[in-house]
Amino acid sequence: MSGPVISLGGSIFSKIDEKYLLEFLERIKRVDGYALVVGGGPMARDEISKLRKIGAKEYYLDMMGIQATRLNATLVSLALGNLMEVPRSIDEAVRQMKLYERVIMGGTEPGHTTDAVSLLLAEALSRDTVVNVTNVDYLYDRDPKLKGAKKIEKISYSSAVEMITSEKRGAGANFPLDILSLNIARRSNIRIKIVSFRSPKNVFNAINNRKFDGTTVL
Ligand code: UTP
Repeated sequence: MSGPVISLGGSIFSKIDEKYLLEFLERIKRVDGYALVVGGGPMARDEISKLRKIGAKEYYLDMMGIQATRLNATLVSLALGNLMEVPRSIDEAVRQMKLYERVIMGGTEPGHTTDAVSLLLAEALSRDTVVNVTNVDYLYDRDPKLKGAKKIEKISYSSAVEMITSEKRGAGANFPLDILSLNIARRSNIRIKIVSFRSPKNVFNAINNRKFDGTTVL
């Protein structure tokens, strides 16, 4: 069985971007063997920010975030006629994949993001690519809001890690991937294609291994 592993960034769940979510759901129905990891988006951010004000520990904020990713994953799953429970671990996801040849999940445990989950799932399923559907169209050589920021079409794992940790940029700021995801990708040679959800046609070009606009990390 082969098929794409997709990290569907939670930003597509913003009310204002609903049309992109609906179009993504329509198009993904025609793809075989997908493994979809769904992000928490505004729901995760809002609930985490309330809990943070109350003084909850980071561990519990992450637990809240995971619940948000699972609720979004449930929505996607039901929209796609999937009657299985959303798996709570990579192992469970691999079992579902073997049984049903597709899987839709959210987060697993505290300490990372759904991007890292998508890379771990790709490792476990022996897939060589993750398509990261997010709210930026490319990785840029500096904060894209800054004048003169240039698009990057291809970047090595090590250069991406360097960029993410560079102080000039501000650790993690405006970067669509976390360092754990990059490290997992690097150790197992999984390429990451970064594409914006705002161009559904382009997203599916990346998913279907056609030419696409976006950044490849490899
Ligand atoms: P996301 O992975 O969606 O993070 O999980 P994000 O980067 O905020 O959102 P998008 O998808 O890029 O828009 C939301 C939150 O849930 C927790 C983290 O707190 C994360 O920030 N989380 C998620 C975990 O702790 N573990 C997981 O496996 C997944």
